[in-house]
Amino acid sequence: MSTKAARNSHGQDSSYFLGWQEYEKNPYHPTTNPRGIIQMGLAENQLSFDLIESWLESNPDVLGLKHDGASVFRELALFQDYHGLPSFKNALAEFMAELRGNKVQFEPSNIVLTAGATSANEILMFCLANPGDAFLVPTPYYPGFDRDLKWRTGAEIIPIHCSSRNNFEITKGALEEACIRAQKKKLRVKGVLVTNPSNPLGTTLTRHELEILMNFISAKRIHLISDEIYSGTSFGTPEFISIAEVIKGRKDDVVDLVHIVYSLSKDLGLPGFRIGAIYSSNEAVIAAATKMSSFGLISSQTQYLLATLLSDKHFTASYMKENKRRIKVRHDQLVEGLAGIGIRCLESNAGLFCWVDMRHLLKDKTFNGEMELWKKIVYDVGLNVSPGSSCHCTEPGWFRVCFANISTETLDLAMKRLASFVESSGPGEASPTKSRGPKALMNWVRRSSLADRRTER
Ligand SMILES: Cc1ncc(COP(=O)(O)O)c(C=O)c1O
Repeated sequence: MSTKAARNSHGQDSSYFLGWQEYEKNPYHPTTNPRGIIQMGLAENQLSFDLIESWLESNPDVLGLKHDGASVFRELALFQDYHGLPSFKNALAEFMAELRGNKVQFEPSNIVLTAGATSANEILMFCLANPGDAFLVPTPYYPGFDRDLKWRTGAEIIPIHCSSRNNFEITKGALEEACIRAQKKKLRVKGVLVTNPSNPLGTTLTRHELEILMNFISAKRIHLISDEIYSGTSFGTPEFISIAEVIKGRKDDVVDLVHIVYSLSKDLGLPGFRIGAIYSSNEAVIAAATKMSSFGLISSQTQYLLATLLSDKHFTASYMKENKRRIKVRHDQLVEGLAGIGIRCLESNAGLFCWVDMRHLLKDKTFNGEMELWKKIVYDVGLNVSPGSSCHCTEPGWFRVCFANISTETLDLAMKRLASFVESSGPGEASPTKSRGPKALMNWVRRSSLADRRTER
């Protein structure tokens, strides 16, 4: 085996992936395996499949590879241009603008199509960093980045340590401190990568944070990658602000340092279709990324299908509205369910998960204590959630809990299981807020996190 193939930096032994393996061995099913593990460690959006399915039913030509009744099979079978189908790139550019309330426009020729955001992020690393160069990434971050950014490229991640004290906001101090750590390791910092809305926090970056990031990359002359894969999941206030809005109208060359990653895996719930994109106005990056994309193209029949679906403006508008509504309902169900058993979440306005504070349930306030609790939750309670340590969180006791890949009934059952676990835990492990009723708790959660945000920005 080559050194790369054998190298452990793929990150597959992280508890994030181990939890999935445990779930696979004993998956919950309401009738065939009612005591099995419930999968709450997978950020999948299964809430709006019916909307896409009914669109497909009313547009049978698309799956039959026909256009106006005539077959397009041969055309698609032969198509292998790595620039992608123009109709798909146009439709995707318009959809990306629509997701941002048409406050910004996207130029189709600045899009590179990739096999999902996984490939988009890796291609950007190949384009911007040499082996041994570093990107700064705020914690907690999506565990897949260890694989996507580092494994094959040889690039390094230096975490920007964010803290619960200010609701994990990105500050100038935290950015500078990460830079100093990179320098001590003799690593050249080539850029910052943020996820907005954040996985795993479920929060969106404020304009203030985005400006801090822009000033930082501009002063250091380094790149900024904004992974906006969850842009269509933002369901509440404050509204999602894309980095595209922040650089709109800027005439300086900092614009060439900013790159957006997008994918239809979350907003449309289509991770199996492998539809991703890089958006950049940097010509050199677009040219190199386009060449690299030939290792992971999107098949032409998928592009054809999505070009037709995304061009149906009536459908996209109603889908986005309804999908957000459903995400919010499910989010609220989880937050209220947890509040009822004395567990609070970071206040969030996007994503397919909540960032859940279980610090009071730790016997031992360390990462060992977190793993101990995680094992109990997986094996005794029967819920696969992701421990904060797998997201490189620096404080033990936080967990990412997903809510959009299971039914309402399964989510209710998960809350019941967790409630009996919390009740049976020793008195020393009880939450300080446990005696409050669910409504009072919700208000308390809201008040305290809003107050934190205001005072600590
Ligand atoms: C922040 C983030 N980026 C990228 C990805 C990978 O997405 P894709 O399925 O499009 O490769 C994920 C998937 O969970 C993610 O959460």
